[in-house]
Amino acid sequence: MVIAVDGPAASGKGTLARRLAAHYGLPALDTGLLYRMVARALLDASQPIDDPVAAAAMASRFDEAGFGEDVLRGREIGEAASVVAAFPGVRSALIERQRRFAAQEGGAVLDGRDIGTVICPDAPVKLFVTATPEVRAARRHRELAGRGEVATFAGILADIRRRDARDSGRSDAPLKAAADAVILDTSALTVEEAVAAAIDIVDRRRRV
Ligand code: CDP
Repeated sequence: MVIAVDGPAASGKGTLARRLAAHYGLPALDTGLLYRMVARALLDASQPIDDPVAAAAMASRFDEAGFGEDVLRGREIGEAASVVAAFPGVRSALIERQRRFAAQEGGAVLDGRDIGTVICPDAPVKLFVTATPEVRAARRHRELAGRGEVATFAGILADIRRRDARDSGRSDAPLKAAADAVILDTSALTVEEAVAAAIDIVDRRRRV
């Protein structure tokens, strides 16, 4: 069973994807990390992140094993990832490794922006996880504070709005719910409530 989990920044999709994977015994891929790796690799090589040719070249040759998750989760890398993710050459260079992951025997859980629309359009279960920008900013604020990154709530809210606009407005694989995705708004839900709701959605879909 392939479970596609999409949604905007800090919507809770990563947590839900990990929890669904544990619940159903499936491997999980956080595809945002791939875009973050491309951005990190460009910055490490002192290359510009706004050059589509350099970014596409990096996307086809970077080594996934070369990065600890800690260096990828920072605020500025999320921003840089959304810049490189808008380049079609970067997206196409990353498609195959995502599809290979999804094609594993038994299935997989993938989370991102375009899993249900582009990477796995035939996934039997698609979730689109949302929350208000304010709730997402509060979550990201807590997450970054936990990592020791100092940032204001207002600054993070501005980041989230800018990233939403960039991710939704790009022409290649924009952030949007697949026609057959179930929308899960986690604004008013605790993590445990959101996990229970997501499991319920998956179980219902599997019964159809
Ligand atoms: O955790 P957060 O939602 O902040 O970020 P992420 O999921 O790691 O994604 C970082 C950036 O990568 C996003 O803003 C998107 O621009 C891009 N991305 C994408 O375009 N397609 C995906 N499947 C996953 C991420």
